[in-house]
Amino acid sequence: MRSTICARCRPLIGQARRQILRPISQQQKRCESTSSTSDATTNDQPKTTEKKKKRNVVFSGIQPTGIPHLGNYLGALRQWKKLQDDVEASGSGDKLLFSVVDLHAITVPQEASILRLRRREMMAALLAIGLDPEKGSTIFFQSSVPQHTELMWILSCTASMGYLGRMTQWKSKLAVQNHATDIDEIAMTNLKLGLFSYPVLQAADVLVHRATHVPVGEDQRQHLEFARECATNFNHTFSNILVPPETVTTPSPRVMSLVQPTQKMSKSTPNHRSRILITSTSNEIRQRIYGAVTDSEDAITYEPTRRPGVSNLLELLSQCGPALADGTRRSPEELGNEFNGRMWKDLKNAVADAVVAELEGVRERYHEFLNRKGGKWIDEIEAEGAEAARRSAEATMKLVRYAVGLGRKS
Ligand code: TRP
Repeated sequence: MRSTICARCRPLIGQARRQILRPISQQQKRCESTSSTSDATTNDQPKTTEKKKKRNVVFSGIQPTGIPHLGNYLGALRQWKKLQDDVEASGSGDKLLFSVVDLHAITVPQEASILRLRRREMMAALLAIGLDPEKGSTIFFQSSVPQHTELMWILSCTASMGYLGRMTQWKSKLAVQNHATDIDEIAMTNLKLGLFSYPVLQAADVLVHRATHVPVGEDQRQHLEFARECATNFNHTFSNILVPPETVTTPSPRVMSLVQPTQKMSKSTPNHRSRILITSTSNEIRQRIYGAVTDSEDAITYEPTRRPGVSNLLELLSQCGPALADGTRRSPEELGNEFNGRMWKDLKNAVADAVVAELEGVRERYHEFLNRKGGKWIDEIEAEGAEAARRSAEATMKLVRYAVGLGRKS
Protein backbone atom coordinates (compact mmCIF):
# COMPACT_ATOMS: atom_id res chain seq x y z
CA MET A 1 0.00 0.00 0.00
CA ARG A 2 1.00 3.56 -0.65
CA SER A 3 2.88 5.31 2.05
CA THR A 4 2.52 9.07 1.98
CA ILE A 5 4.64 10.10 4.88
CA CYS A 6 7.69 12.24 4.94
CA ALA A 7 11.18 10.88 5.31
CA ARG A 8 11.48 11.68 8.98
CA CYS A 9 8.56 9.45 9.84
CA ARG A 10 9.66 6.43 7.91
CA PRO A 11 11.41 4.73 10.78
CA LEU A 12 8.05 4.70 12.52
CA ILE A 13 6.45 2.47 9.98
CA GLY A 14 9.00 -0.20 10.24
CA GLN A 15 10.53 0.01 6.80
CA ALA A 16 13.77 0.78 8.48
CA ARG A 17 12.87 -1.41 11.37
CA ARG A 18 15.98 -0.91 13.41
CA GLN A 19 16.23 2.78 12.75
CA ILE A 20 14.48 4.59 15.47
CA LEU A 21 12.77 7.95 15.54
CA ARG A 22 15.35 10.60 15.14
CA PRO A 23 15.71 13.21 17.80
CA ILE A 24 13.33 16.04 17.16
CA SER A 25 16.12 18.58 16.94
CA GLN A 26 17.29 16.81 13.77
CA GLN A 27 13.82 16.18 12.48
CA GLN A 28 12.78 19.78 12.59
CA LYS A 29 15.36 20.65 10.01
CA ARG A 30 13.69 18.27 7.60
CA CYS A 31 9.99 18.69 8.10
CA GLU A 32 8.37 22.07 8.27
CA SER A 33 5.07 20.86 9.64
CA THR A 34 6.28 20.41 13.20
CA SER A 35 6.76 23.64 15.04
CA SER A 36 9.01 23.97 18.01
CA THR A 37 7.26 23.72 21.30
CA SER A 38 7.64 24.53 24.90
CA ASP A 39 7.72 20.91 25.98
CA ALA A 40 9.58 20.58 29.22
CA THR A 41 12.25 18.52 27.50
CA THR A 42 12.74 20.87 24.57
CA ASN A 43 15.99 22.62 24.10
CA ASP A 44 16.64 25.05 21.36
CA GLN A 45 20.38 24.82 21.09
CA PRO A 46 20.83 22.32 18.31
CA LYS A 47 24.43 21.10 17.91
CA THR A 48 25.94 21.55 21.30
CA THR A 49 23.24 19.66 23.13
CA GLU A 50 22.89 16.86 20.59
CA LYS A 51 23.11 14.28 23.35
CA LYS A 52 20.26 15.78 25.29
CA LYS A 53 17.78 14.78 22.64
CA LYS A 54 14.14 15.56 22.75
CA ARG A 55 11.91 12.58 23.08
CA ASN A 56 9.31 11.84 20.51
CA VAL A 57 5.82 11.29 21.79
CA VAL A 58 3.63 8.77 20.03
CA PHE A 59 -0.10 8.74 20.69
CA SER A 60 -2.80 6.61 19.19
CA GLY A 61 -6.30 5.55 20.12
CA ILE A 62 -8.67 2.71 19.41
CA GLN A 63 -12.37 2.50 20.11
CA PRO A 64 -13.62 -0.30 22.36
CA THR A 65 -15.74 -1.90 19.69
CA GLY A 66 -15.08 -5.56 20.44
CA ILE A 67 -12.21 -7.95 20.00
CA PRO A 68 -10.04 -6.68 17.14
CA HIS A 69 -9.99 -8.63 13.89
CA LEU A 70 -7.06 -9.31 11.62
CA GLY A 71 -7.69 -6.06 9.73
CA ASN A 72 -7.49 -3.99 12.92
CA TYR A 73 -4.43 -5.92 13.98
CA LEU A 74 -2.48 -5.57 10.74
CA GLY A 75 -3.69 -2.00 10.20
CA ALA A 76 -2.86 -0.58 13.61
CA LEU A 77 -2.10 -2.79 16.58
CA ARG A 78 0.85 -4.63 15.13
CA GLN A 79 2.35 -1.25 14.28
CA TRP A 80 1.96 -0.09 17.86
CA LYS A 81 3.76 -3.16 19.08
CA LYS A 82 6.56 -2.60 16.58
CA LEU A 83 6.96 0.97 17.79
CA GLN A 84 7.26 -0.32 21.31
CA ASP A 85 9.90 -2.85 20.25
CA ASP A 86 11.86 -0.18 18.40
CA VAL A 87 11.79 2.22 21.32
CA GLU A 88 12.86 -0.54 23.65
CA ALA A 89 15.70 -1.64 21.37
CA SER A 90 17.00 1.89 20.83
CA GLY A 91 16.69 3.08 24.39
CA SER A 92 15.57 6.40 22.91
CA GLY A 93 13.20 7.04 25.80
CA ASP A 94 10.48 8.05 23.36
CA LYS A 95 7.09 8.18 25.02
CA LEU A 96 4.32 5.84 23.83
CA LEU A 97 0.71 6.41 24.77
CA PHE A 98 -2.10 4.13 23.61
CA SER A 99 -5.63 4.87 24.67
CA VAL A 100 -8.88 2.97 24.58
CA VAL A 101 -11.05 5.88 23.50
CA ASP A 102 -14.24 5.13 25.36
CA LEU A 103 -15.51 8.71 25.20
CA HIS A 104 -15.42 8.52 21.44
CA ALA A 105 -17.40 5.29 21.60
CA ILE A 106 -20.35 7.06 23.19
CA THR A 107 -20.74 9.42 20.24
CA VAL A 108 -23.02 6.68 18.94
CA PRO A 109 -25.56 4.89 21.19
CA GLN A 110 -24.03 2.25 23.49
CA GLU A 111 -25.49 -0.22 25.94
CA ALA A 112 -23.76 0.58 29.25
CA SER A 113 -23.17 -3.04 30.29
CA ILE A 114 -21.72 -3.86 26.87
CA LEU A 115 -19.46 -0.82 26.84
CA ARG A 116 -18.15 -1.80 30.27
CA LEU A 117 -17.24 -5.19 28.86
CA ARG A 118 -15.77 -3.86 25.62
CA ARG A 119 -13.40 -1.52 27.43
CA ARG A 120 -11.91 -4.39 29.39
CA GLU A 121 -11.77 -6.58 26.32
CA MET A 122 -9.85 -3.95 24.42
CA MET A 123 -7.38 -3.50 27.27
CA ALA A 124 -6.86 -7.27 27.34
CA ALA A 125 -6.43 -7.33 23.57
CA LEU A 126 -3.79 -4.60 23.62
CA LEU A 127 -1.86 -6.42 26.31
CA ALA A 128 -2.29 -9.77 24.55
CA ILE A 129 -0.73 -8.54 21.32
CA GLY A 130 2.31 -7.52 23.34
CA LEU A 131 1.88 -3.93 24.45
CA ASP A 132 3.50 -3.84 27.83
CA PRO A 133 3.78 -1.06 30.39
CA GLU A 134 7.09 -2.57 31.46
CA LYS A 135 8.38 -1.98 27.95
CA GLY A 136 7.42 1.66 27.89
CA SER A 137 3.81 1.68 26.68
CA THR A 138 1.29 3.70 28.64
CA ILE A 139 -2.14 2.11 28.12
CA PHE A 140 -5.25 3.70 29.55
CA PHE A 141 -8.90 4.56 29.14
CA GLN A 142 -9.47 7.99 27.68
CA SER A 143 -12.17 8.67 30.27
CA SER A 144 -9.67 8.11 33.09
CA VAL A 145 -7.82 11.27 32.07
CA PRO A 146 -10.16 14.25 32.44
CA GLN A 147 -7.57 16.57 30.91
CA HIS A 148 -8.60 15.18 27.51
CA THR A 149 -12.10 16.56 27.85
CA GLU A 150 -10.88 19.74 29.48
CA LEU A 151 -8.63 20.52 26.53
CA MET A 152 -11.42 19.55 24.18
CA TRP A 153 -13.58 22.30 25.62
CA ILE A 154 -10.84 24.86 25.27
CA LEU A 155 -10.12 23.80 21.69
CA SER A 156 -13.79 23.87 20.84
CA CYS A 157 -13.81 27.57 21.68
CA THR A 158 -11.49 28.23 18.75
CA ALA A 159 -12.57 25.38 16.45
CA SER A 160 -14.47 26.31 13.33
CA MET A 161 -17.95 24.89 12.78
CA GLY A 162 -17.38 25.36 9.06
CA TYR A 163 -14.34 23.11 9.11
CA LEU A 164 -16.11 20.50 11.23
CA GLY A 165 -19.12 20.66 8.94
CA ARG A 166 -16.98 19.70 5.97
CA MET A 167 -15.62 16.57 7.66
CA THR A 168 -16.90 13.25 6.45
CA GLN A 169 -17.24 10.98 9.45
CA TRP A 170 -20.34 12.42 11.05
CA LYS A 171 -21.95 12.51 7.66
CA SER A 172 -21.24 8.88 6.93
CA LYS A 173 -22.35 7.88 10.40
CA LEU A 174 -25.57 9.70 9.76
CA ALA A 175 -25.75 7.94 6.41
CA VAL A 176 -25.81 11.29 4.70
CA GLN A 177 -24.03 11.47 1.37
CA ASN A 178 -20.61 13.03 1.66
CA HIS A 179 -21.35 15.70 -0.87
CA ALA A 180 -24.81 16.53 0.39
CA THR A 181 -25.14 20.27 0.70
CA ASP A 182 -28.52 20.61 2.34
CA ILE A 183 -28.36 18.72 5.58
CA ASP A 184 -32.05 18.86 6.35
CA GLU A 185 -33.72 19.38 9.65
CA ILE A 186 -34.22 15.70 10.40
CA ALA A 187 -30.56 15.04 9.90
CA MET A 188 -29.70 17.98 12.14
CA THR A 189 -31.99 16.71 14.88
CA ASN A 190 -30.43 13.28 14.68
CA LEU A 191 -26.94 14.65 14.58
CA LYS A 192 -25.68 14.77 18.13
CA LEU A 193 -23.26 17.46 19.19
CA GLY A 194 -20.78 14.84 20.42
CA LEU A 195 -20.63 13.10 17.06
CA PHE A 196 -20.22 16.42 15.29
CA SER A 197 -17.41 17.50 17.59
CA TYR A 198 -15.74 14.05 17.63
CA PRO A 199 -12.67 15.47 15.83
CA VAL A 200 -12.17 18.11 18.54
CA LEU A 201 -11.92 15.41 21.20
CA GLN A 202 -9.55 13.46 18.98
CA ALA A 203 -7.43 16.60 18.56
CA ALA A 204 -7.40 17.04 22.33
CA ASP A 205 -6.30 13.40 22.80
CA VAL A 206 -3.23 14.02 20.76
CA LEU A 207 -2.46 17.62 21.71
CA VAL A 208 -2.85 17.18 25.45
CA HIS A 209 0.19 14.87 25.38
CA ARG A 210 1.97 17.03 22.83
CA ALA A 211 2.32 13.99 20.63
CA THR A 212 4.79 14.35 17.78
CA HIS A 213 3.67 11.24 15.87
CA VAL A 214 0.26 9.65 15.50
CA PRO A 215 0.12 6.24 13.81
CA VAL A 216 -3.33 5.78 12.28
CA GLY A 217 -5.11 4.31 9.29
CA GLU A 218 -5.52 6.32 6.11
CA ASP A 219 -9.16 7.10 7.06
CA GLN A 220 -7.96 9.20 10.00
CA ARG A 221 -5.88 11.59 7.92
CA GLN A 222 -8.61 14.23 7.86
CA HIS A 223 -8.95 14.13 11.65
CA LEU A 224 -5.24 14.59 12.15
CA GLU A 225 -5.17 17.48 9.72
CA PHE A 226 -7.86 19.05 11.87
CA ALA A 227 -5.78 18.41 15.01
CA ARG A 228 -2.86 20.26 13.44
CA GLU A 229 -5.20 23.11 12.62
CA CYS A 230 -6.40 23.21 16.25
CA ALA A 231 -2.81 23.32 17.50
CA THR A 232 -1.84 26.12 15.15
CA ASN A 233 -4.97 28.05 15.99
CA PHE A 234 -4.34 27.73 19.69
CA ASN A 235 -0.67 28.65 19.36
CA HIS A 236 -1.52 31.77 17.38
CA THR A 237 -4.35 32.83 19.62
CA PHE A 238 -2.66 32.20 22.96
CA SER A 239 0.86 30.96 23.22
CA ASN A 240 3.13 28.47 21.48
CA ILE A 241 2.35 25.43 23.60
CA LEU A 242 0.72 22.76 21.47
CA VAL A 243 2.56 20.57 18.95
CA PRO A 244 1.06 20.01 15.50
CA PRO A 245 1.53 16.24 15.20
CA GLU A 246 2.74 14.18 12.26
CA THR A 247 0.37 11.60 10.85
CA VAL A 248 2.04 8.26 10.37
CA THR A 249 -0.01 5.99 8.15
CA THR A 250 0.58 2.29 8.32
CA PRO A 251 1.68 0.61 5.12
CA SER A 252 -0.73 -2.26 5.56
CA PRO A 253 -3.28 -3.51 3.07
CA ARG A 254 -7.00 -3.26 3.40
CA VAL A 255 -7.85 -6.66 4.78
CA MET A 256 -10.98 -7.82 3.02
CA SER A 257 -13.88 -10.00 4.13
CA LEU A 258 -13.23 -13.70 3.59
CA VAL A 259 -16.80 -14.13 2.37
CA GLN A 260 -17.33 -10.97 0.33
CA PRO A 261 -13.84 -9.93 -0.69
CA THR A 262 -15.00 -6.65 -2.20
CA GLN A 263 -15.89 -5.42 1.31
CA LYS A 264 -13.47 -4.59 4.11
CA MET A 265 -13.20 -7.12 6.93
CA SER A 266 -15.56 -5.79 9.58
CA LYS A 267 -16.62 -6.45 13.14
CA SER A 268 -20.23 -5.68 12.44
CA THR A 269 -21.19 -7.95 9.53
CA PRO A 270 -23.26 -10.82 10.93
CA ASN A 271 -21.38 -13.61 9.14
CA HIS A 272 -18.56 -14.54 11.51
CA ARG A 273 -16.91 -16.56 8.72
CA SER A 274 -16.05 -13.27 7.06
CA ARG A 275 -13.43 -12.42 9.67
CA ILE A 276 -10.60 -13.73 11.78
CA LEU A 277 -10.36 -12.30 15.27
CA ILE A 278 -7.05 -11.98 17.04
CA THR A 279 -8.50 -14.49 19.51
CA SER A 280 -9.67 -17.02 16.91
CA THR A 281 -8.39 -20.57 17.51
CA SER A 282 -5.98 -22.11 15.02
CA ASN A 283 -8.80 -24.32 13.82
CA GLU A 284 -11.08 -21.38 13.25
CA ILE A 285 -8.33 -19.54 11.39
CA ARG A 286 -7.71 -22.53 9.14
CA GLN A 287 -11.41 -23.07 8.48
CA ARG A 288 -11.95 -19.42 7.57
CA ILE A 289 -9.03 -19.40 5.20
CA TYR A 290 -9.88 -22.72 3.57
CA GLY A 291 -13.44 -21.47 3.20
CA ALA A 292 -12.42 -18.04 1.85
CA VAL A 293 -14.33 -17.04 -1.25
CA THR A 294 -12.04 -16.74 -4.26
CA ASP A 295 -13.14 -17.17 -7.88
CA SER A 296 -13.48 -19.84 -10.52
CA GLU A 297 -10.24 -19.20 -12.35
CA ASP A 298 -7.50 -21.77 -11.97
CA ALA A 299 -4.46 -19.56 -11.92
CA ILE A 300 -3.23 -17.70 -8.87
CA THR A 301 -2.52 -14.07 -9.68
CA TYR A 302 -2.45 -10.81 -7.76
CA GLU A 303 -5.06 -8.52 -9.30
CA PRO A 304 -6.86 -6.71 -6.46
CA THR A 305 -9.58 -5.13 -8.58
CA ARG A 306 -10.42 -8.02 -10.86
CA ARG A 307 -9.71 -10.83 -8.41
CA PRO A 308 -10.23 -9.48 -4.88
CA GLY A 309 -10.51 -12.90 -3.19
CA VAL A 310 -7.21 -14.40 -4.22
CA SER A 311 -5.50 -11.02 -3.95
CA ASN A 312 -6.67 -10.74 -0.34
CA LEU A 313 -5.10 -14.12 0.44
CA LEU A 314 -1.83 -13.04 -1.18
CA GLU A 315 -1.92 -9.79 0.84
CA LEU A 316 -2.41 -11.76 4.03
CA LEU A 317 0.50 -14.01 3.15
CA SER A 318 2.63 -10.99 2.37
CA GLN A 319 1.75 -9.38 5.72
CA CYS A 320 1.94 -12.46 7.93
CA GLY A 321 4.56 -14.53 6.11
CA PRO A 322 8.13 -14.38 7.34
CA ALA A 323 9.99 -11.14 6.78
CA LEU A 324 13.09 -11.14 4.60
CA ALA A 325 16.55 -10.73 6.07
CA ASP A 326 16.44 -6.95 5.65
CA GLY A 327 13.15 -6.76 7.49
CA THR A 328 11.00 -6.09 4.43
CA ARG A 329 8.17 -8.38 3.35
CA ARG A 330 7.66 -10.20 0.11
CA SER A 331 5.14 -8.31 -1.98
CA PRO A 332 1.81 -9.91 -2.88
CA GLU A 333 2.76 -9.58 -6.58
CA GLU A 334 5.89 -11.60 -6.00
CA LEU A 335 3.97 -14.20 -4.04
CA GLY A 336 1.36 -14.32 -6.81
CA ASN A 337 4.09 -15.16 -9.29
CA GLU A 338 5.49 -17.79 -6.99
CA PHE A 339 2.13 -19.51 -6.49
CA ASN A 340 0.99 -19.19 -10.08
CA GLY A 341 0.64 -22.71 -11.47
CA ARG A 342 0.30 -24.25 -8.03
CA MET A 343 -2.86 -25.50 -6.36
CA TRP A 344 -5.27 -23.35 -4.38
CA LYS A 345 -4.72 -25.75 -1.53
CA ASP A 346 -1.02 -24.83 -1.43
CA LEU A 347 -1.78 -21.14 -1.22
CA LYS A 348 -4.46 -21.55 1.42
CA ASN A 349 -2.20 -23.77 3.50
CA ALA A 350 0.57 -21.22 3.33
CA VAL A 351 -1.77 -18.37 4.30
CA ALA A 352 -3.30 -20.35 7.15
CA ASP A 353 0.13 -21.29 8.51
CA ALA A 354 1.30 -17.69 8.32
CA VAL A 355 -1.77 -16.25 10.06
CA VAL A 356 -1.73 -18.93 12.76
CA ALA A 357 1.94 -18.20 13.39
CA GLU A 358 1.36 -14.45 13.48
CA LEU A 359 -1.37 -14.75 16.11
CA GLU A 360 0.39 -17.45 18.09
CA GLY A 361 -0.25 -17.09 21.80
CA VAL A 362 -2.54 -14.06 21.51
CA ARG A 363 -5.71 -16.01 22.33
CA GLU A 364 -4.21 -17.66 25.40
CA ARG A 365 -2.77 -14.42 26.72
CA TYR A 366 -6.04 -12.60 26.10
CA HIS A 367 -8.06 -15.01 28.22
CA GLU A 368 -5.41 -15.31 30.85
CA PHE A 369 -5.12 -11.52 31.22
CA LEU A 370 -8.87 -10.99 31.37
CA ASN A 371 -9.16 -13.45 34.23
CA ARG A 372 -5.91 -12.80 36.07
CA LYS A 373 -6.48 -11.93 39.74
CA GLY A 374 -10.17 -12.57 39.26
CA GLY A 375 -10.30 -9.82 36.65
CA LYS A 376 -8.62 -7.20 38.82
CA TRP A 377 -5.27 -7.27 37.07
CA ILE A 378 -6.57 -5.46 34.00
CA ASP A 379 -7.96 -2.72 36.24
CA GLU A 380 -4.64 -2.36 38.02
CA ILE A 381 -2.69 -2.08 34.78
CA GLU A 382 -5.18 0.48 33.51
CA ALA A 383 -4.99 2.48 36.73
CA GLU A 384 -1.21 2.70 36.45
CA GLY A 385 -1.45 3.75 32.80
CA ALA A 386 -4.08 6.35 33.63
CA GLU A 387 -1.90 7.78 36.37
CA ALA A 388 1.04 8.19 33.99
CA ALA A 389 -1.21 9.64 31.29
CA ARG A 390 -2.69 12.14 33.74
CA ARG A 391 0.79 13.32 34.63
CA SER A 392 1.67 13.75 30.98
CA ALA A 393 -1.58 15.59 30.23
CA GLU A 394 -1.47 17.76 33.33
CA ALA A 395 1.96 19.12 32.37
CA THR A 396 0.40 20.48 29.18
CA MET A 397 -2.79 21.66 30.83
CA LYS A 398 -0.93 23.77 33.38
CA LEU A 399 0.58 25.75 30.50
CA VAL A 400 -2.67 25.80 28.56
CA ARG A 401 -4.79 27.04 31.46
CA TYR A 402 -2.37 29.83 32.19
CA ALA A 403 -2.09 30.83 28.52
CA VAL A 404 -5.87 31.07 28.23
CA GLY A 405 -6.15 33.09 31.44
CA LEU A 406 -7.62 30.37 33.59
CA GLY A 407 -4.89 29.02 35.81
CA ARG A 408 -2.02 30.28 37.85
CA LYS A 409 1.52 30.22 36.60
CA SER A 410 3.14 27.41 38.53
N1 TRP B 1 -10.88 8.21 15.62
C1 TRP B 1 -9.96 7.11 15.76
C2 TRP B 1 -10.56 5.89 15.05
O1 TRP B 1 -11.73 5.76 14.97
C3 TRP B 1 -9.71 6.76 17.19
C4 TRP B 1 -9.01 7.87 17.91
C5 TRP B 1 -9.53 8.68 18.86
C6 TRP B 1 -7.67 8.27 17.72
N2 TRP B 1 -8.62 9.55 19.30
C7 TRP B 1 -7.46 9.34 18.63
C8 TRP B 1 -6.64 7.84 16.88
C9 TRP B 1 -6.24 10.01 18.67
C10 TRP B 1 -5.43 8.51 16.94
C11 TRP B 1 -5.23 9.58 17.82
O2 TRP B 1 -9.79 5.04 14.63
